[in-house]
Amino acid sequence: MTYLKNAWYVACLTHQVRAGEMFHRTLLDEAVVFYRKQDGSPVALQDRCPHRFVPLHLGTIRGDQIECGYHGLRFDCSGACVKNPHGDGKIPAAAKVRAYPVEERHGMLWIWMGDAPADLALLPDYSVLDPSSGYLVSTGGYIHIKANYELMAENLLDLSHITYLHDGLLGSPEQVGADQVLTEDEGHIVCRRWMPGISVPGVFDMLYRRDQGLVDMWTEMRWMPPSCFLLDSGVHAVGATREDHGWYYGVHILTPETRYTTHYHFAAALPAGTRLTDAEAAKFAEMRRFAFEEQDKPILDAQQAALGETDFWAMKPVLLTIDAGPVRMRRAIERLIAAERQTAQPASVD
Ligand code: FES
Ligand SMILES: [Fe+2]
Repeated sequence: MTYLKNAWYVACLTHQVRAGEMFHRTLLDEAVVFYRKQDGSPVALQDRCPHRFVPLHLGTIRGDQIECGYHGLRFDCSGACVKNPHGDGKIPAAAKVRAYPVEERHGMLWIWMGDAPADLALLPDYSVLDPSSGYLVSTGGYIHIKANYELMAENLLDLSHITYLHDGLLGSPEQVGADQVLTEDEGHIVCRRWMPGISVPGVFDMLYRRDQGLVDMWTEMRWMPPSCFLLDSGVHAVGATREDHGWYYGVHILTPETRYTTHYHFAAALPAGTRLTDAEAAKFAEMRRFAFEEQDKPILDAQQAALGETDFWAMKPVLLTIDAGPVRMRRAIERLIAAERQTAQPASVD
C-alpha cells in the first residue's frame, strides 16, 4: 500500500467545483469526479462508469445525479445507479460507483478516501486562512509536481535548502549550519531552525524593515500526517523579540496524484500588522510562486526522474544531519500505513 487512506486530503479549492459543472482529478491513483447538488453541497464519486469504464465527467449533470455520456446509466450522489434506460430497466447489483465523503473547509475541498468512517477530528487546522481569523491571506497557488509526495514532503520539512535553492529570496548564506530542533506533539513533527544575525532574505525584507540589514530569523515547520504542512517563519531585529509584522504562516498541502506525481497547493497568511500595498502584496505572492514553481519544482521533477521507479531506500541515500526530520517523517508514514493495514485485515481465526 502506498498511501495512508484514512486521512483527509485536499482535492481542490472549493471554487473549482462550480454549480452545474463537473471537475475531475486523480487522487491517490483513483479517478474522482466532483459536482454540486442543487443545494450547493459538493459530491465526489468514482469517475468511472461500471458499464464500460467511461469517465463519468464526460457525461451530464441531471439535478443531483449524473448521467453517463455513453449509454445513459444514471447515478445518484451516493453512487447508486438509479436509472438504466435499456431493456426492462432493471438495475444490475454491480451498477454502482464509489462515493467519497467530502468537506469544505478553509477554502478547500477535502476528501476522505479510506474505508474507515470519515473522522472530522483528523482534518488539519488551517483556520489562519479563514476570514474570521483576521489574517491577511496572500494569493496561493497550485503546482503539479512530477515527483512522489514524500520527496516533496522532505523538501518542506527540511528547509536547509532555502540557502541554496532560494538564496536571496527566502534564504541567505549565513543560514548554513543552523541547528534543527525536532519535536513531536500529537503525531505532528515540528522542525525548528533558528538563525540569529543573518542578512535578511528578500521576502522578509519586504515584510519587515526594507533596509537589507541583519536580522534574527526563524523557521518552524509543522508536519501534520500524512502530507499537510504549516510554516511559521519570519524575522525580527537582532536580539529582539517577534513583532506584529515581518513574519507569516506558510500553508503547504500535498495530495498524491499517483506514486510519482503530486498535487501541491500553497498559500500564506500574514498577521494584521503587516503593511503592504496591493502591488507589494502581489509581489510577495509572486516571489513565493517563483520559489516553489521555478526553483523547487524543477529539482523535485529531476529527483523523481533520477529515481525512476526504484524505491527510495533501495537507492541507499546518503544521510546528513539535516535529514533527521525527513527520516522521522518517512518512518511515521510507514508506521501509520502499517497500522492502517493491520486494522483493515480481518482478525485471523486460529
Ligand atoms: S459506459 Fe456508462 S453507460 Fe455504458
Ligand atoms: Fe523550497
